[in-house]
Amino acid sequence: MNFELTEEQIAVQQAARDFAQTELLPEVIERDTHQKFPAAQIKKMGELGFMGMMVDPKYSGGGMDTISYVLAMEEISKVDASASVVMSVNNSLVCWGIETFGTEEQKEKYLKPMAAGQIHGAFCLSEPEAGSDATSQRTTAEDKGDYYLLNGTKNWITNGSTASVYIVIAQTDADKRHKGINALIVEKGMPGFVVGKKEDKMGIRGSDTHSLMFTDVKVPKANRIGADGFGFTFAMTTLNGGRIGIAAQALGIASGAYELALSYAKERKAFNKKLSEHQAIQFKLAEMATKIDAARLLLWQAAYLKDEKKDFVKAASMAKLFASQIAQEVTTEAVQIHGGYGYVKEYHVERLMRDAKITQIYEGTTEIQKMVISRELLK
Ligand code: CAA
Ligand code: FAD
Repeated sequence: MNFELTEEQIAVQQAARDFAQTELLPEVIERDTHQKFPAAQIKKMGELGFMGMMVDPKYSGGGMDTISYVLAMEEISKVDASASVVMSVNNSLVCWGIETFGTEEQKEKYLKPMAAGQIHGAFCLSEPEAGSDATSQRTTAEDKGDYYLLNGTKNWITNGSTASVYIVIAQTDADKRHKGINALIVEKGMPGFVVGKKEDKMGIRGSDTHSLMFTDVKVPKANRIGADGFGFTFAMTTLNGGRIGIAAQALGIASGAYELALSYAKERKAFNKKLSEHQAIQFKLAEMATKIDAARLLLWQAAYLKDEKKDFVKAASMAKLFASQIAQEVTTEAVQIHGGYGYVKEYHVERLMRDAKITQIYEGTTEIQKMVISRELLK
């Protein structure tokens, strides 16, 4: 067993770290306060190859492995989880889904510009009444011969107003339940497609979360991903890999907060000595570091299994479950170590604590991860 990173992986990690420190850090508080989407930063991330990291170079991607991807996700998430969720959705949901299951035409038209970072995508599964219970799709895609007539509402869509390409999951044949669901590629600007209200969120406030409305949108049959009725399996299979991205995001939020707390503890004095010289603080740091390392090992295991083309469903859900939980714990302790300074925006840890919560909710809540893990254990 070898836990050493390759030279290439270390170079990717360093490039992501440098980018996060020089390009994301300077205005991250301002973007969070004003719910400002990091448009310029996402454009640069595309130019640097962070938006299609695992995509085959023949489709303008980086051709990298999943380990490199999670290393980059961790570094970006340490500083700006609003930017990293854009990266995660584009890489592991939209690009991966189209590259793995799309037609050559779909790859040429949609995957290439997304992998090159010229545009980005959105993944639209959740609805007002279908979140965890994802098979209860109310959005319909009526088969009209050479096109589908799409009607319904999607909720909570990341990149809702900034995406150009939307993968929309919808019910075609209700009698067939989840086997009658399709995944369609919808373009921004298709008549009848309207972007709804922007959500005012607790965390990842720089990200762009919207409801989407579809009224008689004509989607060509050529835009269906996979065979008729493949849409739900498509969504679930794609989310298996997506959960690795969110686990990496949670890990990054935790390790970012830990690094800030560690350096603060070495500077701040109380009772005539540094905080780091008080055993109570040392023990907090020891627990934080241990949790982070455990989460990282689970994450690397899931990424490794995926790269080896082995079954990674349980490993991905375990990584997401555990990393999102320790992100809560570690960020809360990081605020505690900062004392009152931790409670104000300037020191970053309060934002990381708010950002951490979403990792227990999206791409399958904590309870859904436990459902996936236990089903895998018992099958
Ligand atoms: N991988 C592959 N296929 C899977 C799967 C998985 N992890 N989980 C279920 N399936 C398949 C099943 O095999 C089954 O297909 P077959 O009948 O052909 O075998 C089909 O899906 C239905 O499965 P179940 O009968 O188990 O369905 P269920 O309704 O009992 O539960 C669920 C399924 C696991 C709870 C699922 O609904 C789920 O994952 N819910 C959470 C939804 C979610 O994660 N949403 C995230 C939205 S995207 C997002 O959030 C992005 C973002 O924020 C950035
Ligand atoms: P519900 O499903 O109503 O769940 C409510 C609570 O009940 C949760 O704690 C849940 O775990 C629990 N629960 C539900 N069923 C069970 C059960 N059987 N057993 C035990 N407990 C259960 N979705 C997308 O499709 N695309 C996106 O890009 C996207 N981005 C998002 C961004 C943000 C900021 C947010 C907040 C959400 C986003 N989502 C997205 C939606 C997200 O995936 C859902 O919110 C999530 O899957 C939970 O669904 P829900 O909100 O309807 O909660």
